[in-house]
Amino acid sequence: MNSVNSTFKFKWGNHMFKKLVVAAVATSFTLTASVSYAGPKAEVLHWWTSGGEAKSVAVLQKEFSENGGSWTDMPVAGGGGDAAMTALRARVLSGNAPAAVQLKGPSIQEWYEEGALADISAVAKKNNWSKVLPASIAGHMKCEGKWCAAPVNVHRIDWIWANASVLSSNGFGMPKTWDEFNATARALQAKGIIPLAHGGQAWQDATVFEAVALGIGGANFFHDAFVKLDKKALQSDTMVKVFDQMRIMRGFVDKNFSGRDWNLATAMVMNGEAAFQIMGDWAKGEFLAAGKVPGKDFLCASTPGEGFLYNVDSFAMFKVKGSERQDGQKLLAKLIVGKNFQKVFNLNKGSIPARTDVSLNEFDHCAHVSAADMNASSVGGTLLPSYAHGMALRGAQAGAITDTVTAHFNSKMSSKDAVAMLVKAIDNSK
Ligand code: GAL
Repeated sequence: MNSVNSTFKFKWGNHMFKKLVVAAVATSFTLTASVSYAGPKAEVLHWWTSGGEAKSVAVLQKEFSENGGSWTDMPVAGGGGDAAMTALRARVLSGNAPAAVQLKGPSIQEWYEEGALADISAVAKKNNWSKVLPASIAGHMKCEGKWCAAPVNVHRIDWIWANASVLSSNGFGMPKTWDEFNATARALQAKGIIPLAHGGQAWQDATVFEAVALGIGGANFFHDAFVKLDKKALQSDTMVKVFDQMRIMRGFVDKNFSGRDWNLATAMVMNGEAAFQIMGDWAKGEFLAAGKVPGKDFLCASTPGEGFLYNVDSFAMFKVKGSERQDGQKLLAKLIVGKNFQKVFNLNKGSIPARTDVSLNEFDHCAHVSAADMNASSVGGTLLPSYAHGMALRGAQAGAITDTVTAHFNSKMSSKDAVAMLVKAIDNSK
């Protein structure tokens, strides 16, 4: 007892000793803080590795370092991001999530439900995100009422890109109906030009498929089939017609299409080897990065039919420890929705800003078409989330559709069999 008491007295009763301890602890805190706090930092996982994409992500990297951040790049090549998402899962499972991840659509909420995402509401409130972002985009960035992702842009999916001189020298304009597209493609094919530059990767098949589905079925059909997963729409005659058109499209691709990356398909249009590509407007970023001029070297038009398929890229912040990494996340989130970044990034990326208060003065004709069509579609009720780019459905259901689309495109499967396979795949995925 005595010895315990005396120890107690020695440690806490002695004023001098107490002061010394406090001073030592304080010094060591100051030392630790000044030695080890190296400023905000972030490891950033993304799949922007093509020419146009890399130029765009470099804009963010530059702004981050100009504002004191140090950036660790984690690029995972593979258009559409499938490989990046596999890499992400492995990192999270090993307990070592990257700080910031290119993530979008319902997978943001899926990761939040798994408890993996940080709440960035404080940054959002401080920077007035709810005032500068349209409600439809803000909705994708929220998880149970909290902000859990920061949007960078709006990409449109339902675009046709064309080589301007291939069309004009053969007397063709941009097709306004699918019949016109087919007729132009057949005529060009007869002259030895590849009508459709395509890369045979599942996500690219899905990209073409959803543009065709919107064009042939219209906005209500698209919404019923690919947002609501309504069985009547999935097994309708309209869906049979969509697969019929996909079979026709299959005849327009060259024999080396299998496995080709999307940017190599864009290059085929650039160099006149092929006439058209159906791809989101990151393809425009690729044309621009190669010095091509819209309206002169290449043409853009929405794919035949009504509506607008949107694809919003965003970054989510994964839960990380340590003030440097957490400060890095806050800085990154703030910059991403910043006015200057939204302009410069999107000028490179081919998309339009997510913010509504960024002037489009410096943007080209295709971006103006995109913005005008997006507003009109929003008013007219035909603004739709892209299923192929993970904006409409959770992963399992989107995957079920894409598996069917790819199986059909790469075989001689009939349209009716494809529809039956689609219905079954969706049933199994629920
Ligand atoms: C999309 C993404 C775009 C673009 C494209 C090709 O899913 O939203 O930003 O990078 O993939 O990689």
